[in-house]
Amino acid sequence: MDLGLNGKTALVLGASRGLGRAIAAGLCAEGATVLAAARHPSDIEAWRADLPPDQQTQLTAFHADLADRASIVALAERVVRDGGVDILVNNSGGPPPGAISTFSDEDWIAHFTVMASRFFLLASHLVPGMRERKWGRVLTVGSSGIMQPIAGLGLSNGIRGAIAGWSKTLSNEVAADGVTVNMLIPGRIHTDRLDQLDGAAAQRDGLTRDDVARRSLRDIPAARYGRPEEFADAAVFLASERASYITGSQLRVDGGMIRSV
Ligand SMILES: NC(=O)c1ccc[n+]([C@@H]2O[C@H](COP(=O)([O-])OP(=O)(O)OC[C@H]3O[C@@H](n4cnc5c(N)ncnc54)[C@H](OP(=O)(O)O)[C@@H]3O)[C@@H](O)[C@H]2O)c1
Repeated sequence: MDLGLNGKTALVLGASRGLGRAIAAGLCAEGATVLAAARHPSDIEAWRADLPPDQQTQLTAFHADLADRASIVALAERVVRDGGVDILVNNSGGPPPGAISTFSDEDWIAHFTVMASRFFLLASHLVPGMRERKWGRVLTVGSSGIMQPIAGLGLSNGIRGAIAGWSKTLSNEVAADGVTVNMLIPGRIHTDRLDQLDGAAAQRDGLTRDDVARRSLRDIPAARYGRPEEFADAAVFLASERASYITGSQLRVDGGMIRSV
């Protein structure tokens, strides 16, 4: 299937490792030009060297710190000045674990800023150009906690619910202009973040990290963690021409983990 991504341009946030890296690499493999951003662009440049030589020139690394408003506005203005992007992939680091009752209002504001409102800010700069050009894709990486709250991830569950409301509302506002807005819902995809969360759970419960992983697998019908590339395949499809009539959706990439229908 030709995904129709050749010649499209994408901005992928949180692209130095994990899910963002896999999505950026997946878009390159389909012929897109990728602006890959994170706080450590040198990490992006390091993994770019592993791409096939003809794809390496399609990817440019940018510095962006979602905690720093000026950095995000500068990135957005530069992208708009250079003609905008067809695809925006909202992705960032996850918040620290903890029971929902343990966080202060300062915690909520700080993490909402990094995990949510900076995405909204970037979209406010980049979506108008997509609407003018009558083609665009906005993808946001969420979490299974949106559909089935994850114990011990209070900040994540709370903030990502707000992103789900934003994504669905935006999808309705821009659908008639050929811009689709969707969320990707990872279950347990094997990245550094997952290793850190399993490590924290092991410490909390007096287990080894392998014990925690085995315990997690009991809740996953596929009986394994997902690979970042499997997650990226779903993202690349949603970003593609072929997904033109899918909008306002939340696509689970979870090996069946979320229990609801
Ligand atoms: N993996 C899973 O199974 C899973 C499940 C549910 C939800 N999620 C969520 O999906 C997202 C990505 O997950 P992941 O596993 O790929 O996480 P990860 O391995 O921790 O990667 C996070 C990425 O975000 C970047 N980042 C972190 N803070 C940033 C900031 N302030 N500004 C700009 N970039 C920043 C990091 O790069 P730099 O350090 O270079 O900035 C890195 O590229 C996270 O929000 C996570 O909570 C993941």
